[in-house]
Amino acid sequence: MIDDDTHVFYRNPFTHYPVVARGEGPYLFDEDGKRYLDACGGAIVSALGHSVPEIIDAMKRQLESVEFAHTSQFTNAAQEELAALLAERAPGGLNHVYFVSGGSEAVESAMKLARGYWVQMGRPDKWMVIGREQSYHGNTLGALAAGGNRWRRAIYEPMLFKAPRVAPCYCYRCPFDKAPATCRIECAEDLERAILEAGPENVAAFIAEPIVGATAGALVPHDNYFRRVREICDKYDVLLIADEVMTGLGRCGSWFAIRQFGVVPDMICMAKGLAAGYVPVGATLVHDRIVDTFHNRRHIFQHGHTYMGHPLAAAAGAAVVKYIDQHKLVERSRKMGEELMTQIRKALGDHPHVGDIRGRGLFVGIEFVADRDTKAPFEPEAAFHRELREIAFENGLIIYPMGGTIDGRRGDHVLIAPPFIITKAQIGRLVALLVKSVDAAVAKMHPKVDV
Ligand SMILES: Cc1ncc(COP(=O)(O)O)c(C=O)c1O
Repeated sequence: MIDDDTHVFYRNPFTHYPVVARGEGPYLFDEDGKRYLDACGGAIVSALGHSVPEIIDAMKRQLESVEFAHTSQFTNAAQEELAALLAERAPGGLNHVYFVSGGSEAVESAMKLARGYWVQMGRPDKWMVIGREQSYHGNTLGALAAGGNRWRRAIYEPMLFKAPRVAPCYCYRCPFDKAPATCRIECAEDLERAILEAGPENVAAFIAEPIVGATAGALVPHDNYFRRVREICDKYDVLLIADEVMTGLGRCGSWFAIRQFGVVPDMICMAKGLAAGYVPVGATLVHDRIVDTFHNRRHIFQHGHTYMGHPLAAAAGAAVVKYIDQHKLVERSRKMGEELMTQIRKALGDHPHVGDIRGRGLFVGIEFVADRDTKAPFEPEAAFHRELREIAFENGLIIYPMGGTIDGRRGDHVLIAPPFIITKAQIGRLVALLVKSVDAAVAKMHPKVDV
């Protein structure tokens, strides 16, 4: 099925990709006029829906004044404005923003900044970054090294730096076999074990998604998980990096998801929803403590990319933040998220192949199982998630499914993350198409159990 007429090196040359022609609100249309309900913003990107005139106008205005000026020579009004808007909304103390062009770059910047900070502090042995199993922080080598997405890492293992990993906060399949009544947040305590094993003198940072996205399907941590993590980080002089590339900017019903867990991290990585798909952009929000350390010693952060602080990207980002404010979309994400959760639970809560439904705001994950009682997953070879994605797409519904939910190999989930402007009626349509697609995908499975 490889198309010889193209010069594009596709993500997957064995897939047929329709040509997208236009977008409107929560819909995308291909060149044949087929309409798709975009229930995941591509990859949790299009937070405002498609073709919002206010964002496009702001971008045009920027292009009419200046399209590019290198950040080693100039600052620009757009990046100054966006940095101020983000600092105003970020948890206390995260008042400086390092702009980049995507999520992986934001993570790389945060990890290198953590290293730089400890060097400035006279602790040059501190370099290690601890991550979690079943996490994802990006595909560049550093971000891949810190992440716990096994199938994405597999062939690159020899190229990745050593990054210890701790247990995920995965209550549906607790790695410590605990139930809510017996839980002592062992998964948070696991961080202390990893720090002690690596030697606290060697550990620069711990990185975690406040709510795990792509790898495990909207895993919401225990309420006290991040408080305990913060305590452990403070005890051993380890910086806490919150990777909010998926969860940031209103997606989970607050500007930043980490705020819901009562802690202030040392850095926050953002991208995706920051310019809502209108242009690539990423950002690392940095605590004053770290910035001051560099400033007071008159040192610069030795890093940088050509396109950082790009005026067009920053203008789009600033327009997105203002649009979210004007239309009260953070509150709407929370409210419509409750509606989405209610409708999904009603439609799929008793489904024999739905094991768990979880998430916050308009960020909902559904984990599928072959057997609800034993929680046994479908056989990995059956690739239920892929089947589901293809059937849903055929049905005009775009969702974000993934396999390897449990351990990088077994398990299937889907992320549902529609734009904040979605209506109740559109949620109804989304859920109806989802149920139809799940049933059709299940019908194609031989529910043989893999345990
Ligand atoms: C939590 C998280 N961090 C980082 C990334 C990497 O972002 P990008 O694909 O923009 O490099 C992703 C992408 O899915 C992500 O979900």
